[in-house]
Amino acid sequence: MKKIKISPSILSADFSQLGKEIKRLEESDADMIHVDVMDGHFVPNLTIGPPVIKTLRKYTKLTFDVHLMISPVHKYIKDYADAGADIITIHPEATENLNKSISHIKELKKKVGVSLNPDTKIDVITDILNNIDLVLIMSVFPGFGGQKFIPKVVDKIKELNKIKKEKKLNFDIEVDGGINFSNSKTVIEAGANILVSGTTIFKENDGNLKKNIEKLRTI
Ligand code: DX5
Ligand code: ZN
Repeated sequence: MKKIKISPSILSADFSQLGKEIKRLEESDADMIHVDVMDGHFVPNLTIGPPVIKTLRKYTKLTFDVHLMISPVHKYIKDYADAGADIITIHPEATENLNKSISHIKELKKKVGVSLNPDTKIDVITDILNNIDLVLIMSVFPGFGGQKFIPKVVDKIKELNKIKKEKKLNFDIEVDGGINFSNSKTVIEAGANILVSGTTIFKENDGNLKKNIEKLRTI
C-alpha cells in the first residue's frame, strides 16, 4: 500500500504572500505543492503562470505538482518545465495529441499526469496508463476552490484502482476537489494515494495547516 500523500492546493492560499504560504506548507509537513494553473479559457478562471512559478521555486524543494487547466496546452508545457514544475498534469481535452504531449513532458524529464474531469470516462486513457506517472481524478468540475465533492467519482477511483492492479501498474491516483475530513477516508479506501486540498487545509481548525494535513492523511 502506497503512503498517503497530501498535496495542498495554493489556490486557497493568500496570493499576496505565496512565497511565505509555501514555506508554511513545507513546515506543516505537506508532501508536495499543488499549483492550479488556470487560463480563463479551458476553465472560467485565471490564476498564475510560469513567471510566478519560477519565483516560487526558490522557496521550497518540495515537489511542484502542477495542474495545467489550460488549452491549448502542448505548446506551453516547456515553459512550465523550465519554471520548475516537477509533475506536469494535463487534461486530454486540452491537447490534439495526448501521446505527443505525454512524450514531450517525459523528454523534459518531468513526471506526467493526466486529469479526468468528473464526466470524462476512464476509457479515454486506458491505453496510456502504462506510460504515465499519475492520474488526477477531478472530484469537482475544475475552475474554483471551495466546491462540493461529487460522490459519483468514488466509483471511478475504484474502477481505476482495479485496472491498475489487474495490469500491475504503478501510477499514483490523485483526487482533487472538495476533499475534506468526511470524504478523505472514502477516497483513500477507494484507492487514492494522493489527496489535493485547498479549502479544508487553509480554512479548517482556524487555518492550522499542520493539523489539517495530518488529519486528511490519517484514516
Ligand atoms: C479546482 C482545482 C482544485 C481545487 C481544490 O479546479 O483543480 O485543486 O483548487 O480546492 P478545494 O480543496 O478547495 O476544492
Ligand atoms: Zn487542481
